[in-house]
Amino acid sequence: MALLKILQYPDRRLHTLAEPVTEVTDAIRRLAADMAETMYTAPGVGLAATQVDRHIRMIVIDVSEKKDDLKVYINPEILERDGEVCHEEGCLSVPGIYEKVSRAEHVRIRAQNAEGQLFEQEAHSLLATCLQHEIDHLHGRVFVEYLSRLKQDRIRNKLLKQQRETM
Ligand code: NI
Repeated sequence: MALLKILQYPDRRLHTLAEPVTEVTDAIRRLAADMAETMYTAPGVGLAATQVDRHIRMIVIDVSEKKDDLKVYINPEILERDGEVCHEEGCLSVPGIYEKVSRAEHVRIRAQNAEGQLFEQEAHSLLATCLQHEIDHLHGRVFVEYLSRLKQDRIRNKLLKQQRETM
């Protein structure tokens, strides 16, 4: 397995629209394993392929306390959403920034697992937020884009400054 480089906001590649996965191959499974290792090492609770500059519809999530419940979602789709909840979100592509975002409290999704089998899942609360956040990445959307223009500008400037300093 290998650690992958995570794109940092405001990198334009984070706005790329991901392509569907047509066949779940060993190469896809390897990428999922590398993404999981990258997510656990960071550490984070979710990672989208977009964030590691691979523009295919795949995300990995583990919201468990013991970090022993890895879920791979290939071609995830939100079938239903209802309710509203506001969690503080962070993102491995936007380090050090945590902001409240309003999202559906409950979602039902359909996806394929790492074996290519189709499944449906109901998710609430933190997992629902996480799924919506990661699926947004596949549409080229980063969570800070839900914030006011002023906040977005502040975050962008702060991160650009950090990136210059660490270069
Ligand atoms: Ni993110």
